[in-house]
Amino acid sequence: MIKEINFNDDFIIERVQKTFINVFKDHPIKKDLLSNPFSKYLVYLYHDKVCGFVNYNHIYERIEIINIEVIKEYQRQRIASKLISYIFKIKVNNITLEVKKNNIPAINLYKKFGFKELAIRKNYYNGVDGILMEVVD
Ligand SMILES: CC(C)(COP(=O)(O)OP(=O)(O)OC[C@H]1O[C@@H](n2cnc3c(N)ncnc32)[C@H](O)[C@@H]1OP(=O)(O)O)[C@@H](O)C(=O)NCCC(=O)NCCS
Repeated sequence: MIKEINFNDDFIIERVQKTFINVFKDHPIKKDLLSNPFSKYLVYLYHDKVCGFVNYNHIYERIEIINIEVIKEYQRQRIASKLISYIFKIKVNNITLEVKKNNIPAINLYKKFGFKELAIRKNYYNGVDGILMEVVD
């Protein structure tokens, strides 16, 4: 099941942050939701277990995907695909994201959804190039 997180969902926020501690230790979800009106979080729950999340900014007619992650033991089970499909139902003109050039699983995932390479961002990730990808409605 996919659930959108609200700023007052303290219990679920804590569980997402614990599950993805490396992502959220310097980036508390509640603070982000309270300070950024465009920021959205979807969490994928399987029998109440937090298996994955996606964070994106929905800025009027466009969306930028900030991060998506699925816990190791649940990868390759279409969870990320379900999270992206959920975002694809939102009516916008385009969706963009940035991905490390060497992140083959993520690049394959995005290509499956029709994302195309728009630009290379040299050394965007501390020595690793970033690829700006876009899908247009
Ligand atoms: C990228 C990630 C989110 C994919 O999640 P997932 O739930 O395993 O993805 P799905 O099961 O929906 O896979 C969809 C497609 O992505 C691609 N893919 C996913 N994992 C892959 C892998 N390990 N190797 C190659 N392609 C892969 C495949 O094309 C796959 O389709 P297929 O199963 O029909 O071949 C996951 O690997 C992850 O959490 N990685 C670490 C965090 C990360 O890199 N996030 C992206 C930041 S930009």
